Amino acid sequence: MSKMKKVFIIISLITIFTTACGDNNNVSEENQTSTAVDKNSPAYEIYQQNGCISCHGTDLEGKMGSLTNLQDVGARLNEDEIKNTLLNGKTGTVMPAYGESLSEEDIDTLTSWLSENQ
Ligand code: HEC
Repeated sequence: MSKMKKVFIIISLITIFTTACGDNNNVSEENQTSTAVDKNSPAYEIYQQNGCISCHGTDLEGKMGSLTNLQDVGARLNEDEIKNTLLNGKTGTVMPAYGESLSEEDIDTLTSWLSENQ
């Protein structure tokens, strides 16, 4: 085999290897952004200031079992169902009603923020 051919093969291998690694990095970054909670959003501030964290966790991971995990609540419930839960609480659970303590605007902000979590 000529020297040129060897060099070409080595360069090709390096290119394939680094391209494959680059793709893997992209995949893991996409996964991270889809589950990460945007803690700078106005909705998160409402979430934080009204004690949701104590039961649902700082990352919406749920502190009282998997049913309090809100990371994919948008896939379980539609916007009306989420809004109703916030307004009236959830019967048979300790989920409080926020219809009296939060403004309709805050409820709507929380609702659309939560329904984006699918
Ligand atoms: C005292 C604990 C507690 C607090 C505080 C609390 N929750 Fe909950 N929440 C729960 C429990 C328990 C459930 C019901 C889980 C189940 O279905 O068994 C629930 C259910 C929910 C659901 C419906 C989830 C589903 O799949 O049915 C949403 C949405 C929700 N909470 C949002 C919030 C938001 C937003 C706040 C703050 C404004 C909040 N919760 C405050 C305990 C709490």
